[in-house]
Amino acid sequence: MKKIVLVATVKPFAAEAVEGIKQLAEQAGYEFRLLEKYPDQAALIEAVKDVNALIVRSDKVTREVIDAAKNLEIVVRAGAGYDNIDINYAKDKGIVVMNTPGQNSNAVAELALGMMVYVARNLFNGKPGTELKGKKLGILAFGNVGRNVARIAQGFGMEVYAYDAFVPKEAIEQHNVKAVDSTEELFKTCQYVSLHIPANDQTRRSINYNLLKLMPKNATLVNTARKEIINEEDLVKIMEEREDFKYISDITPDNADVFKEKFQGRYFFTPKKMGAQTKEANINAGLAAMRQIVNYFEKGDTKFQVNK
Ligand code: 3PG
Repeated sequence: MKKIVLVATVKPFAAEAVEGIKQLAEQAGYEFRLLEKYPDQAALIEAVKDVNALIVRSDKVTREVIDAAKNLEIVVRAGAGYDNIDINYAKDKGIVVMNTPGQNSNAVAELALGMMVYVARNLFNGKPGTELKGKKLGILAFGNVGRNVARIAQGFGMEVYAYDAFVPKEAIEQHNVKAVDSTEELFKTCQYVSLHIPANDQTRRSINYNLLKLMPKNATLVNTARKEIINEEDLVKIMEEREDFKYISDITPDNADVFKEKFQGRYFFTPKKMGAQTKEANINAGLAAMRQIVNYFEKGDTKFQVNK
């Protein structure tokens, strides 16, 4: 029986990426199917019924989706964060879950720096702003995105610091980045802090008042990670207390109305999550996902499995 591969993306890939994935699937002898901009979970549940492999982005692969997908063998999240997939339930059902680390990280990093310039220049309103050169930037988690943020920020002439509980200091310092000893030290040292931690049980709501209050004058918090890592009530509290505090995010917070009402000019949210939304990132992550599926089906390669 021919393997069936479904690309299910509420937020579609660039057409070139879809074409590339289709070609790779067909070259391997698989049937390719596409479900884009689907209206609700019911549409996804219907579409997965007979597929063997699934490629998604931030699409929610819940228990219901997994239960409906009787033939499913592998899910690849074309991207980094897999908090949208019930990986443990997938494991119970013998389904391999993978991500494609590093494939979209430059796109996310470019957006982080782009938003920093935008806010430092007062949302391009024509009034005098500030420059990034010479300012201290703290990178929380020095993974693929964090490293790209460091590289680009160094081009701007920023002084770059980082903290990562899982990366040795020497490995951080190889990138000409100053490694600090704790999250607290990072927040205390840096006027700009850019968040690159995943959303999980350890990190949810971990960016809280006690950390935010440590940031120096004219602080800007940059979030291209996940809204779940922010304690939103605490963020509002600090922004109420400190008129010098700004927040830039690629993910609109649940309490966006409060920002609109109280913090005009001190925040920016993209209209929809777009860090990884470039043609290049879509091609890199989409094709990597498809290659990983071929390697799994043809050679049993589980290199990028996240639910071992
Ligand atoms: C990721 O985790 O890879 C990024 O957040 C990008 O997500 P997206 O594919 O939904 O744009």
